[in-house]
Amino acid sequence: MDFDGDLARNYLDGRRLPAETVSTWMRAMAAFVTASGRPVLDLGAGTGRFTRALAEHFSVPVVAVEPSAEMRERAASAAGPEVFVVGGQAEAIPCAAQAFQVIWASQVVHHIKDFDRCAAEVRRVLIPGGRLVVRGAFHDAERPTLFHTYFPELAAFAEERGQALAGLTRALRGVGLRPEHRDTVVQMSAPTLADFAAQVALRAHSPLRRLADDRFAEGLKRLMRDADRSPATGPITSTMDLVVFRTIRVTERPDKAAQ
Ligand SMILES: C[S@@+](CC[C@H](N)C(=O)[O-])C[C@H]1O[C@@H](n2cnc3c(N)ncnc32)[C@H](O)[C@@H]1O
Repeated sequence: MDFDGDLARNYLDGRRLPAETVSTWMRAMAAFVTASGRPVLDLGAGTGRFTRALAEHFSVPVVAVEPSAEMRERAASAAGPEVFVVGGQAEAIPCAAQAFQVIWASQVVHHIKDFDRCAAEVRRVLIPGGRLVVRGAFHDAERPTLFHTYFPELAAFAEERGQALAGLTRALRGVGLRPEHRDTVVQMSAPTLADFAAQVALRAHSPLRRLADDRFAEGLKRLMRDADRSPATGPITSTMDLVVFRTIRVTERPDKAAQ
């Protein structure tokens, strides 16, 4: 998936999250960030939807690593004295060993091509006892969202995301990170159906880009019709996963990590 060009141009508006939703996620991950003040890595940060919030909510420096130059350009508005936006990717993180206490990776796992290299990099840049916190939709088969009502073909891509998480989990275990916590988080996607439809129309979700144009147009037409009839319906919510992995500490037996 190419995040430069059209997708980057539409991402800020098409994927805008209500402030309340960003706060929901900061609360959800609060238990996994220590008060040490050590830096946090926003991996695959995109346009920085969470970058500044991470810095402000946890009072820590944040490094946003993002491969797409055009996404990084848009993330620049999130930069500041405690926020740094740099080029890089999960398989090659341009940061020193043991630089971070936590890595935040939102809707990125299914874009990673080489899980072994990613796992090695995650292990390298985390301190012992450090955590990788993953946000993503890995359960859509059981809990379809409103997207699936209008674009049923998206179900096929949801399965890919589940497989990606399983692949990453295996690779992480191999380098000594084990799953520590898993939760579902109910988030507000948009305040109203009209807002939801306006965002979907920008086709800024990568799965919508992968749909055939006629399937996208057909689903969007139905969504727009419903939004015209009941624009104020809302809020539109969806359920997403929070999955946390933790590095074993030097005091722990390595064989525990394989359990
Ligand atoms: C769906 S966006 C999510 C952006 C951001 N984390 C958020 O939640 O708004 C996925 C991002 O992952 C980036 N990406 C793609 N391949 C990547 C990789 N191998 N490592 C890190 N990021 C990657 C893309 O450029 C894109 O910005």
